[in-house]
Amino acid sequence: MKTIPLILMGCGGVGCHLLQHIVSCRSLHSSQGLCLNVLGVSDSKSLVVTEDSSNKGLDDKFLMELCRVKRDGGSLSKLGDLGDCRLFSHPELQERILELASQLGGKTGLVFVDCSASSNTVAVLKQVVDMGCCIVMANKKPLTSTMEDFEKLYAYPRRIRHESTVGAGLPVIASLNRIISSGDPVHRIIGSLSGTLGYVMSEVEDGKPLSQVVRAAKSLGYTEPDPREDLGGMDVARKALILARILGQRINMDTIQIESLYPKEMGPDLMSVEDFMNSGLPLLDKDIQERVEKAASNGNVLRYVCVIEGSSCEVGIQELPKNSPLGRLRGSDNVLEIYTRCYTSQPLVIQGAGAGNDTTAAGVLADIVDIQDLFP
Ligand SMILES: NC(=O)c1ccc[n+]([C@@H]2O[C@H](COP(=O)([O-])OP(=O)(O)OC[C@H]3O[C@@H](n4cnc5c(N)ncnc54)[C@H](OP(=O)(O)O)[C@@H]3O)[C@@H](O)[C@H]2O)c1
Ligand SMILES: *[C@@H]1O[C@H](CO)[C@@H](O)[C@H](O)[C@H]1NC(C)=O
Repeated sequence: MKTIPLILMGCGGVGCHLLQHIVSCRSLHSSQGLCLNVLGVSDSKSLVVTEDSSNKGLDDKFLMELCRVKRDGGSLSKLGDLGDCRLFSHPELQERILELASQLGGKTGLVFVDCSASSNTVAVLKQVVDMGCCIVMANKKPLTSTMEDFEKLYAYPRRIRHESTVGAGLPVIASLNRIISSGDPVHRIIGSLSGTLGYVMSEVEDGKPLSQVVRAAKSLGYTEPDPREDLGGMDVARKALILARILGQRINMDTIQIESLYPKEMGPDLMSVEDFMNSGLPLLDKDIQERVEKAASNGNVLRYVCVIEGSSCEVGIQELPKNSPLGRLRGSDNVLEIYTRCYTSQPLVIQGAGAGNDTTAAGVLADIVDIQDLFP
């Protein structure tokens, strides 16, 4: 039986679903000769870590209790019976993590799993890669800060996986890496990588006013509490930046042209969410409607996409043929068209749900299992 030790950073929606998947896959993994061993879990304030000298992981009952506390909005420090574990806070927390990394990194490839939504994890991640640890991320922020950070995290490309940073559990990064390592040049990637904006653009195509569509999306829970976080395009731009960097573009966030669906005057610092929903949004209806009609008269539809081609990376609305994978998109699926030498006139198409705790956590779990083939 091969043991895969890991430390989970972040136990919100995705992190807790990951722990549930790990527990419910016990017998599946054991039939594959694997055993996932969760040595520690952290949230924004604390780290609980096993203190057993043989590094026996946290037991399943404890992990499920931990998820219950986090789901109820509590902090890890609220955990009652710690059993064999200890709780650390800053700054001892970092010391303990680095101690474990240096102890186990080279020997076992100890996996650091970043399911936080924070840019603070990058400091630890950069240190542990040098100690022989592997890193798996759902968090986009460490890969979208400076180019130096990106290159540091990618210093050992076989020890990093981050499938869930783009398209959640969809095999986007894995497919791209296979294409790249086979020497097939990627000419162009165009993708709808926001479930929210995919839904919005396909609904306005049917002639519904933008304001009505965004209101419906918000009440369906498709948007962030402030829908401007989706409409501004930043999240799509982060995913685009990760893809562009994988293709070798040495660019930063501020190099990317991002089209926001609302003007600066309606920004969060100038307008409340209520004002935006009730009086801001309706002012945008006419312009979008005219663009939809103009596209339709050319046999096209509008999609909010990222386009990565040559040395450019753009994020915004594009007119696309109605009869294409992106043109046919309805609802909240993500769709990615990849054009390469092998996929020239017909692209490789990857489509499916691009968000959700369950599928994102499944992508993270598959990464953890996959990366361990390095350690016989
Ligand atoms: N949900 C999705 O559909 C989806 C899809 C693709 C990618 N992702 C990415 O997956 C990540 C997790 O998403 P989520 O929805 O689970 O977020 P979430 O519910 O907000 O959970 C974030 C967790 O990270 C913890 N945290 C914050 N700072 C930390 C730090 N410095 N060190 C360790 N933990 C820290 C938080 O702790 P507290 O509880 O103490 O605040 C919380 O437990 C995000 O980066 C997100 O962009 C999510
Ligand atoms: C993800 O999990 C969090 C925390 O358990 C929950 O509040 C949220 O509704 C979940 N999101 C979805 C889309 O199920």
